[in-house]
Amino acid sequence: MKNANVKSMLMGLCVLLGMNACTAATSQPEETNKNTEINTEKKLVVFFSHTGENYGVGYIEKGNTHIIADMIAEATGADIFEIVPEKGYPKDDYNACVDIAKQEFQANARPAVKGDVKVEDYGVIFIGYPNWWGNPPMCIYTFIEKHDWNGKTVIPFITHEGSGMGGTDRKIAEACQGANTLTGKGLAVQGKVAQEDRPSAKKAVAHWLEGLGLTK
Ligand SMILES: Cc1cc2nc3c(=O)[nH]c(=O)nc-3n(C[C@H](O)[C@H](O)[C@H](O)COP(=O)(O)O)c2cc1C
Repeated sequence: MKNANVKSMLMGLCVLLGMNACTAATSQPEETNKNTEINTEKKLVVFFSHTGENYGVGYIEKGNTHIIADMIAEATGADIFEIVPEKGYPKDDYNACVDIAKQEFQANARPAVKGDVKVEDYGVIFIGYPNWWGNPPMCIYTFIEKHDWNGKTVIPFITHEGSGMGGTDRKIAEACQGANTLTGKGLAVQGKVAQEDRPSAKKAVAHWLEGLGLTK
């Protein structure tokens, strides 16, 4: 069997194993930074979310992470910025989207993104994305690497179909050098729940924000 096929099978297996391990809307403590004091200055929600054919939810007009991002912005009064790659992912063919995501991941790519936001104006930045094989999509790194994170409080959130946060919060912490990233305190919501059971998702968001002391 070709190497590429073996890799692809392993990735598929990872997704399936992860799916059995996790449940619906959950926040998943993994580890906590020593400095957990939250700087509650102006807040910003930054997210990437894929629309079109998506895992387990069919064709969606609004991405799962986008739904959670809006809920966080509404509950905290945060501004919101969507990371939009210049070259969008295919919307009508889930597997084609997966193939491109895989190529970008394997190449450690930094896909160009449209527009920008002045991160320096904010104290607390929520960063949201879907779980793509235990990684944030590569455009998240494109965005992060454009900015200075010194002194910021960074709070990761994710949507997934079973793998939860999957350690991606640690990757965000590593990328956001100089920030106090709340690893182990981020929010993980199942994409299907965000898409199809918004009251439950909203409850999970509210409960999580209350725990962080970050409601309006
Ligand atoms: C390329 C790709 C890889 C994925 N890998 C995983 C995974 O490893 N584990 C998981 O639970 N879900 C995985 N998913 C499912 C997404 O994380 C899930 O559908 C998410 O809610 C999508 O959010 P979005 O609509 O904001 O893009 C993957 C989806 C795609 C497109």
